[in-house]
Amino acid sequence: MSVENLKTMSLRQSLEKDLSGARAAIETRLFSIVPSAQTWPARLHEAQRHALLSPGKRFRPLLCVFVAKGIGFEGEAAIDVGCVAEMVHAASLILDDLPCMDDAALRRNQPTTHIAFDESTAILTATALLNRAFGVLSRLKNVDAEKRIELVDLLSYAVGSKGLIAGQIADLANSDANASVAEIERLNTLKTGALFDFSVEGASVLAGAESAQRAALKDFSYHLGLAFQLMDDVKDTVMTDKEAEKSVGRDVGKATILALTGSEAAMERLGAYIDSAKAAIARAKLSNDLTLNAVLDAQFSFLTS
Ligand code: IPE
Ligand code: IPE
Ligand code: MG
Ligand code: MG
Ligand code: MG
Repeated sequence: MSVENLKTMSLRQSLEKDLSGARAAIETRLFSIVPSAQTWPARLHEAQRHALLSPGKRFRPLLCVFVAKGIGFEGEAAIDVGCVAEMVHAASLILDDLPCMDDAALRRNQPTTHIAFDESTAILTATALLNRAFGVLSRLKNVDAEKRIELVDLLSYAVGSKGLIAGQIADLANSDANASVAEIERLNTLKTGALFDFSVEGASVLAGAESAQRAALKDFSYHLGLAFQLMDDVKDTVMTDKEAEKSVGRDVGKATILALTGSEAAMERLGAYIDSAKAAIARAKLSNDLTLNAVLDAQFSFLTS
């Protein structure tokens, strides 16, 4: 074996080790963050665990952990901030799947929360996860009070009526075939990008990133959010429920970028978003940009498979 091959192999092994270590730490923390399924009211906690601990990709916590690490922050708090993003994400999925929204039966290869339990339990479960997320931020260990306040503020903005919720309500009303690409990009930036922004910006706050680095990272999460939702919309049209491990075809009739521009232009745009995200990572000068690029490639591997 050549020296070059050996180097590539050891790099790949160390990336895989980094990734599996971070994944394990995230799962362990998520497991302990919500009460046990036996804790009264058991049905509510069972539903929280069903929604939060089901096998998701954990992309938002991974982003938070690796961006924080790349800026130089090694503390446990990055796992907690990532898990907070995952709690909010789980809550948003419970609500998004309800009959009054996307009316979906399958999520992460399991029945959605309102099917496994019932609608009232699903709504209360999402609300409880959201509320607890702010509590976790307020108690982050070894983080200054000022930073904890900034994180609470960031999250309340990301998930509020000018962030994710604005995007969801705009999405529910979105059936206009004459919508412009710019309007849909704005919607995607809110409904999906806001939580990526929180995961990345949260890492910047924890790690005390300097302003140029923080600006580059904002540009990174902006393009990443756009890429992620566009890829999800492509999956919604080309995959089966089994392949996607969730109900697909739920966005038929909506003005997605795919519907507006056709598949060739949409795939080109997707490639351009990913390139912009990677260029922003390079500008942010993280110490682990190779790991972060590998995390990205794993998410978008569907495009090359
Ligand atoms: C699905 O998010 C919802 C979107 C914003 C497109 P993910 O694709 O990250 O879902 P999980 O967490 O892996 O289930
Ligand atoms: C969901 O977008 C975004 C949020 C949950 C805020 P989608 O409706 O496309 O997500 P999936 O496809 O159901 O995962
Ligand atoms: Mg939706
Ligand atoms: Mg949906
Ligand atoms: Mg979708």
